[in-house]
Amino acid sequence: MSIDRPSGPFRVGERVQLTGPKGRLHTITLREDGEMHTHHGVLKHTELIGRPDGSVVANSGGHEYLALRPLLRDFVMSMPRGAAIVYPKDAAHIVSQADIFPGAVVVEAGVGSGALSLWLLRATGQAGRLVSFERRADFADVARANVETYLGGVPENWEVVVGDLAADLPTTVAPASVDRVVLDMLAPWECIDVVADALTPGGVVLCYVATATQLSRVAEYIRATGLFTDPEASETMVRGWHVEGLAVRPDHRMVAHTGFLIWTRRLAPGAVAPEQKRRASKSSYGDEDVELWTPGAVGDRQITDKNLRKRVREAQRAAEGARQAATPDAPTSDAAEAGI
Ligand SMILES: C[S@@+](CC[C@H](N)C(=O)[O-])C[C@H]1O[C@@H](n2cnc3c(N)ncnc32)[C@H](O)[C@@H]1O
Repeated sequence: MSIDRPSGPFRVGERVQLTGPKGRLHTITLREDGEMHTHHGVLKHTELIGRPDGSVVANSGGHEYLALRPLLRDFVMSMPRGAAIVYPKDAAHIVSQADIFPGAVVVEAGVGSGALSLWLLRATGQAGRLVSFERRADFADVARANVETYLGGVPENWEVVVGDLAADLPTTVAPASVDRVVLDMLAPWECIDVVADALTPGGVVLCYVATATQLSRVAEYIRATGLFTDPEASETMVRGWHVEGLAVRPDHRMVAHTGFLIWTRRLAPGAVAPEQKRRASKSSYGDEDVELWTPGAVGDRQITDKNLRKRVREAQRAAEGARQAATPDAPTSDAAEAGI
């Protein structure tokens, strides 16, 4: 199945972003009998179904709403989350620094909520292949449902492997067959050896990490293997601007910190990179350093089981809506269970 981004008039099952009075945002999933109730009145979904993207519609109180199909950056920020997502500013930088290209064979771990998967699928295109590893089956369910909701189906060139990357990568891909690897996980250094085997010579591995201590540890691990170019690192800060009349200034608030990127390229077998820089004085980690590496110590907040079950249900309901939109005559899961 080839999956295209939805286009044309709004259809039942699609998510639509409404900007209402005072710029307030609402995201709704269109249903034939759906209504959005606010203290400004009622907006029937039938007012939107069949209208073009970018329409303005009024509710029962005469209040106007601008209706737009969410862009990928809007969708990932509002979709159900199991784990913390890669923000659009970082995803864009990952696509450029990891050199994700149309037709590339890309491995990603962990898949988490599927935000980065959506950007990687977009960048590799239908000619590419994305293999996403996630060790938690419930997170993988959220990610699959989110991808299905946004794309209106699960792309054939996307494989989700529920398992640990370090254990399962060698049996999933052939040695030296992967163009690019993107790691977003607590301990990427645990996976660098298997990634080195999977990457094609010259291939890129990029790690996204939340803290400077993780950044340092993965950098030193990569160097110690001798299998990669000297790693480069960066962070991306995006400061919005308020541009109105003579009031042209930076926004008062911004997302100041999300994470760091570090990337490097696989050397050819047997190649030794020329020495470039003087090494830092302490470049290895002792047992006492390693003991500090726990999710709590790096501020990785874990979602509760109850909350996660709620997110899985939410994501699957949205995916069901998207499925209905793609095949309007197919029975809903309720109808199918009742034998209708
Ligand atoms: C921060 S989340 C990833 C978020 C994702 N990139 C997104 O944008 O939605 C990190 C995920 O990595 C998974 N993970 C950690 N280590 C892993 C490993 N060795 N193999 C597979 N998954 C792993 C965790 O279960 C978690 O879901």
